[in-house]
Amino acid sequence: MMDDSTPSFQAAREFDFVVVGSGLAGLFFAWKSAQRGTVALLTKGNPQESNTRYAQGGIACVMSPDDSLELHIQDTLLAGAGLCKEPVVRTIVEAGPGVVRELVELGVPFTARESGEGDEFDLGREGGHSRRRILHVDDATGEAIEKVLWDRVASHPRVSVFPGWMAVELITLRRLGFDAQDRCIGIYALERATGKMAAFLGQHTVLATGGCGKTYLYTSNPDVATGDGVAMAFRAGVPIANMEFIQFHPTCLYHPAAKNFLISEAVRGEGGILLNAQGQRFMEAVHPLKELAPRDVVARAIEAEIKKSGHPCVYLDIRHKGRAYLTKRFPTIYAKCLSVGLDIAEEPIPVVPAAHYQCGGIVTDWEGRTPLPGLWAIGEVACTGFHGANRLASNSLLEAAVMADRAARAAQKEQASRLAVTLPEWDPRGKTLSDERLIIAQNWREIRQLMWDYVGIVRTVSRLQRARQRLNGIVSEIEEMFESQSLTADLVELRNLAWVACLIVDCALSRRESRGLHYVLDYPEPDATRPPQDTVLWREPLPLRGR
Ligand code: FAD
Ligand code: SIN
Repeated sequence: MMDDSTPSFQAAREFDFVVVGSGLAGLFFAWKSAQRGTVALLTKGNPQESNTRYAQGGIACVMSPDDSLELHIQDTLLAGAGLCKEPVVRTIVEAGPGVVRELVELGVPFTARESGEGDEFDLGREGGHSRRRILHVDDATGEAIEKVLWDRVASHPRVSVFPGWMAVELITLRRLGFDAQDRCIGIYALERATGKMAAFLGQHTVLATGGCGKTYLYTSNPDVATGDGVAMAFRAGVPIANMEFIQFHPTCLYHPAAKNFLISEAVRGEGGILLNAQGQRFMEAVHPLKELAPRDVVARAIEAEIKKSGHPCVYLDIRHKGRAYLTKRFPTIYAKCLSVGLDIAEEPIPVVPAAHYQCGGIVTDWEGRTPLPGLWAIGEVACTGFHGANRLASNSLLEAAVMADRAARAAQKEQASRLAVTLPEWDPRGKTLSDERLIIAQNWREIRQLMWDYVGIVRTVSRLQRARQRLNGIVSEIEEMFESQSLTADLVELRNLAWVACLIVDCALSRRESRGLHYVLDYPEPDATRPPQDTVLWREPLPLRGR
């Protein structure tokens, strides 16, 4: 059965800044840019739904007299396994204390030290950090940041917020058929509730769409993390780098009633130990830093224990800290576990690794500028060179805040002359197939399962090749649906998921070495014969639908 209704098109709306995404990066950029111009802020779901909202551990920043910027820089470079861009690392780490002070002034209530006065913050510890330097709001740091920034941005007179609007494609001069130097002039977006399409035009278009955890069957990320920004940018001809470096967080709650719930690294930072199915501590034999070894090392060790024992999880034991401490320091984790019948003061927590963070992304310079004029990318969606081949814990909130600030300052200085472009309406042709939901759900499951099985924590070339072959068929099927049917949010997300899965596999196949988060049995060591290099992928822009 076919439904003949075709969604209508709304006339283009014009702003100085079109920002896509309402996590830390998008909100902070919007807040700063509203001082200088009009801002459209689009976000595809509930405005506070984002990876930011679920951040637990906190934001890494040098704030204590026994720490130094140089130590934070060196810890970041070491985790990045030779692929960090040192000037970018220096810039972001050095800007940390300034942006954290701004967040405090805006109202983020970072937890203070019990005995401290004034702004003496309680500093948490996480893997790979040589000092305590993680500012946190108990164990729900992201939720506090989201709330403070959303309240500020949504009430700003120069910001128009568009919740439930999903960016679908970037509008570029080349895609419109102009011969002039290419430039991004805005986006086409879909209103989920009505199926209407509209164009949002801006002097500056900013992708702050976060990561792509949903590409994998098991992830710490919420449903919005479908890699939309990376997929849109790649289709518009913007280079993408280092997508093979997907970070798997070692400890997500393993429980049938808990979806995507993280058990923060801070639990290990405060003394939590990992036990295998026999109740034995196993990290002592793996790495001198034991449970606080780099995340890739801990995740691989857990996966090896699970494979060896046939038991579906390992256990994180923090019972020795006692109930009073646990309810105070980890109130969210304590309450969540209790809600599924697990008392963490009495029982070890069953945990498994899960896809957590995308270290690669849209190539930008250190002000968030992409190679396509008019297009900026900030936060998890971007590849600045800060994280290299492995991100240090709690460095991503830091990067998102600093890069939003730097991009906002840079964009304000760049005024493009307004172009008289007659914008074509989004081609509305298409039908909705009655079994579209079924086909989408099937493809969605298949992509996530094959990414988990073939492109996970430990890889082989043959499994990667197999994944690519399977993805080829899926992508052709989805592109056919995209070209011939009226758009739904599910179809747009599925399409992006498939494109991003291909980018992860293609990057992984191009890297003939193991480095940081990319571990491939065929090449188990880093390539010592040449300096470490980024994996960069690029393609000719895909025409806009119907053009
Ligand atoms: P996000 O916060 O993910 O925001 C992306 C936004 O874009 C969302 O609003 C989304 O709805 C919107 N969006 C996406 N696609 C579209 C589209 N097509 N159209 C419109 N809107 C769109 N990092 C740390 O540094 N410290 C931590 O303690 C920490 N803990 C974490 C815990 C969890 C469970 C998770 C998942 C991540 C954690 N991270 C942590 C990572 C960190 O939270 C993220 O990297 C960071 O918040 C990313 O911010 P962002 O603004 O770039 O993206
Ligand atoms: C955590 O709290 O373990 C997450 C920290 C991070 O991803 O940086």
